[in-house]
Amino acid sequence: METKKIYICTIGCQMNVYDSDKILSHLKPLGYNSTDSLEIADLIIVNTCSIREKAEQKAFSFVGRLAKIKQKNSSLIIAVGGCLAQQAGKKILAGRPWVDIVFGTHAIGRLPKMIQQVTEKKSRIVDVKMFETIQPGEFDTDTPCNSDVSSFITIMRGCDNYCTYCVVPHVRGREASRHPKDIITEIKALVAGGTREVTLLGQNVNSYGLKENMFSFPELLRMVNEIKGLHRIRFTTSHPKDLSNDLMNSFRDLDKLCRHIHLPVQSGSDDVLRRMNRKYTRRIYLEKVDNLRQISPEIAITSDIIVGFPGETDQDFEATLKLVEQIRFDGLFAFIYSDRPNVSAARFSNKVSENEKKERLQILLNLQEKYTLQKNQAKVGKIETVLVDGLSKKQVARNSCENDLNNSLDHQFFQWAGRTSANKIVNFCQNNGYKKKPGNLAGMLIDVKIEKALAHSLWGKPVNP
Ligand code: 5AD
Ligand code: SF4
Repeated sequence: METKKIYICTIGCQMNVYDSDKILSHLKPLGYNSTDSLEIADLIIVNTCSIREKAEQKAFSFVGRLAKIKQKNSSLIIAVGGCLAQQAGKKILAGRPWVDIVFGTHAIGRLPKMIQQVTEKKSRIVDVKMFETIQPGEFDTDTPCNSDVSSFITIMRGCDNYCTYCVVPHVRGREASRHPKDIITEIKALVAGGTREVTLLGQNVNSYGLKENMFSFPELLRMVNEIKGLHRIRFTTSHPKDLSNDLMNSFRDLDKLCRHIHLPVQSGSDDVLRRMNRKYTRRIYLEKVDNLRQISPEIAITSDIIVGFPGETDQDFEATLKLVEQIRFDGLFAFIYSDRPNVSAARFSNKVSENEKKERLQILLNLQEKYTLQKNQAKVGKIETVLVDGLSKKQVARNSCENDLNNSLDHQFFQWAGRTSANKIVNFCQNNGYKKKPGNLAGMLIDVKIEKALAHSLWGKPVNP
């Protein structure tokens, strides 16, 4: 079969990273292999995101740049998929004659057919059909392309929560969970290919299986915990309103479950939380955090916060700062509120000015920076078990320029990077002797004594080099 090259540009969240990997698996049977070069690609796929305005701008600007590439290569096929494609549909084709396919979030399984059709008939296609339940072929489990040390796996799609700021229910559709059998089969295939850690993905994994009256999320975790050869399990994202005692106890009971939870709070003000339709109060959130810390004292808690939600007053923002001071998250993603198409908050009055939003973001980030560093500093002197991802970024860059210098590398120290159970990045050196090739530590669990805390990572030394 003729081999062809595919370039995939992934914008946005981990779910999109997983989807891009699935796109590749679906297109391999058509003879497509991935490339990093836009110029030599026969097919370019832009997997878009529309969660915030910035992501949308990024996607449109990338798609715009492709016009020139198509001019040089008229047989090139360009497909735009993901959340923005779902939202904008055929509007993406208008004024962009270089785009051939627009495919929505439920259309990945139908992409090979669309590509064949475009190749044969030279027609343009838009497929943004959505379905209530998971469709056959939507999550083909047979041939995972991605067998990195750490892999993502989508266990459910869509969301039924309708937070008033959020576009996800509109572009990813109704919540639907995959059958545990399929999930386990896929994880086993990943482990056979070298994966040692899986992150189970869903917009709200806490409500996994509830609608289908299948297994609950804690039950699924217990099944995944039994998989031989798998070292670690993570999951994201959790909605605080659905964080059950059973799930909290999993942090005590399951040896492979990493001691980290991402638990987006979004705001510390009850009034804002109510208008966001989050269905919990500040008190309930604080109680859940206390519970988690009692069950698993070493657990790391990270969160998302939106600043400048319509009508957010100075007092509301103060309440958010107080909450952050009280909880001291291990890490925080803070976002400036932006209106999204069709969401109800877009129609709310009392919009906060752009300047005010930027100021609030900066104040929040400065506050959190202090706590992130404090949390990292608390690790100094401790021994942490690190799952090694691979060579550190610095080392990879160093190797590529030193290869140019004709392998004159002094291999005395090799710098590796991995993560602790609490999801902190750790860099460490492997003393490997002069000019010896380093043994591959990727995928291994190594005990590292932490010597230094930096703003976003830790530095240490292996206990048994
Ligand atoms: N504006 C700003 N941030 C948003 N998020 C979701 N929608 C918006 C929006 N309209 C943030 C939330 C969510 C994270 C993935 O993105 O904090 O948890
Ligand atoms: Fe969006 Fe809320 Fe659903 Fe999360 S739970 S995806 S914020 S609607």
